[in-house]
Amino acid sequence: MTDTSLYDAAAQDWSGFWAKQALALDWYREWDTIVDWELPFAKWFVGGSLNVSYNCLDRHVDAGRGEQVAFHWEGEPGDTRTITYAQLLADVSRFANALKGLGVRRGDRVAIYMPMIPELPVAMLACARIGAAHSVVFGGFSADALGGRINDAQAKVLITADGGWRRGAVVPLKANADAALEDTPSIEHVVVARRTSGAQGAPDVEMVEGRDRWWDELVAGAGTDCPPERMDSEDLLYLLYTSGTTAKPKGIMHTTGGYLTQVAFTHRYVFDLHPETDVYWCAADIGWVTGHSYIVYGPLANGATSVMYEGTPDHPGKDRWWSIVERYGVTILYTAPTAIRTFMKWGSTYPESKELSSLRLLGTVGEPINPEAWVWYWQHIGGGRCPVVDTWWQTETGAIMISPLPGATVLKPGSATFPLPGIGAEVVDDRGDGVKEGGGYLTLTRPWPAMLRGIYGDPERYRQTYWSRFPGRYFAGDGARVDEDGYFWLMGRVDDVMNIAGHRVSTTEVESALVDHPSVAEAAVVGAKDETTGQAIIAFVTLKAGQEADRAHGEALRAHVAAKIGPIARPKTVIFTDDLPKTRSGKIMRRLLRDVAEGRDLGDTTTLADAAVVDEIRRRAGASADEE
Ligand code: WTA
Repeated sequence: MTDTSLYDAAAQDWSGFWAKQALALDWYREWDTIVDWELPFAKWFVGGSLNVSYNCLDRHVDAGRGEQVAFHWEGEPGDTRTITYAQLLADVSRFANALKGLGVRRGDRVAIYMPMIPELPVAMLACARIGAAHSVVFGGFSADALGGRINDAQAKVLITADGGWRRGAVVPLKANADAALEDTPSIEHVVVARRTSGAQGAPDVEMVEGRDRWWDELVAGAGTDCPPERMDSEDLLYLLYTSGTTAKPKGIMHTTGGYLTQVAFTHRYVFDLHPETDVYWCAADIGWVTGHSYIVYGPLANGATSVMYEGTPDHPGKDRWWSIVERYGVTILYTAPTAIRTFMKWGSTYPESKELSSLRLLGTVGEPINPEAWVWYWQHIGGGRCPVVDTWWQTETGAIMISPLPGATVLKPGSATFPLPGIGAEVVDDRGDGVKEGGGYLTLTRPWPAMLRGIYGDPERYRQTYWSRFPGRYFAGDGARVDEDGYFWLMGRVDDVMNIAGHRVSTTEVESALVDHPSVAEAAVVGAKDETTGQAIIAFVTLKAGQEADRAHGEALRAHVAAKIGPIARPKTVIFTDDLPKTRSGKIMRRLLRDVAEGRDLGDTTTLADAAVVDEIRRRAGASADEE
């Protein structure tokens, strides 16, 4: 367990603190300058050179740890693979040579559109090894979304798979890719990993002569010796596209030395990692930043043993996750509040039928976690003995920013607690003045090693989006509250703040009040246009099994919220629904719900987890409106 001396060291000298953490990596050449800060552009470890794949693989093998397992991989159909550091190094080197053979050079961009199979981290690390930047596009995105990202990045090669498994069905990745590739002139070659071909129900895959190559055939002729490129600390490691307030996604840029320093540091200290003995499982998808930083780069830089799982928690049964924890003896589990609330909804029988005593630390990320879910996670999954670390960060921050350090931070259920050592975070009011106690906007007050270096091809949008609202500060887009003890409580995106008759009400606050009611499994709240009050609160509510979705129940919930927060927060309408529309990364699609509530067009719904949910919500919303 960590002691509090890290906070003290960083308080003395924050940039020196990060330099000390950077020494945990292997550098070909150490830096001349720790940080070069010309607001809003930062460079970290200037003049230093290193290779990310060397740090994630070779140095562990060289230290005699080649036989340590890097990944216990489990496919959705139940097939498994165990991959040691030595095997991973060989696979990465071979694939890196194969990429070179296709003409990929240092400085090029490579798009990756894959399921959660071991070839995905292999592809990323192979790019890092030869100095090409990857752009991973989540396998649940549409052909259009993929094509747009390929074109923005001008990627030379696309790496994909024939298909992936999801709830027993095949996601036709290659077919989607083919559709995307109709209008992506920069792509010269496509590499296709075999995952679903030949399986029952799997669609045939068409290979375009001269352009497309099977992964296995390509690597069969490639050697395992591929010396890593010496990369500059500030060379581009990857692009990851994320949605902004406009329709065009932003290509978030992450570079080499600073990024790896902070992901390795946070992975080690926030999760209190013991690489020799822990079995760590981050249940995210590598298509999102959580997977980049905490499935691939952080754990591998630290030489950890991880579980990697291809499928969904409910396939073939609702105890799938807990059987994985039992089978591999998982000690550290990192997941999202949505998953936790889903398990709450399913009831405690599933975790309780499995042996979870190997767990010793639990993490959460991605959305504000309500105290009820936090406590449920702590009790039902952690057996009351595992600290819960709530970690706040973003695609843009690259690594965890606000979180407890187990052992050094006293926890409060539902609070991400304090900025990590070396991180400057402050809640400010409308005018940009610091808030000692109370609510406001979350800002970051100084550069940090893993920070985004910009939006690909659009420096002005970078400055505008993140550095213009409050001069000299990075504005995260989140609301937060500081309590009397200085703890940070994340309140959700401020674009989700409602204004009800001139009063600010946080959607998250109303949601927490609803979820606090014993009958409620999950809730999403939106502010819909209202002629009288500006906005009105509309609550979409999923009830626990066996609860009646009737009018009286809706009244009881409205009264409950009014009692918890105040009459101003009483929802105008409660809409019961069997499920809430979520992005593939598990975020509730509030904008869509607002559109549903306001009866507007839905526009592009490609990031929906399940289209049937939208229909259901639309229908129910319509029926509910008729009732009013
Ligand atoms: C939200 C995911 C509350 C927040 C790593 C942020 C959180 C956005 C937390 C970034 C948390 C992330 N508590 N809210 N612990 N972690 N968020 O880019 O609104 O997919 O701005 O990165 O998720 O989402 P992103």
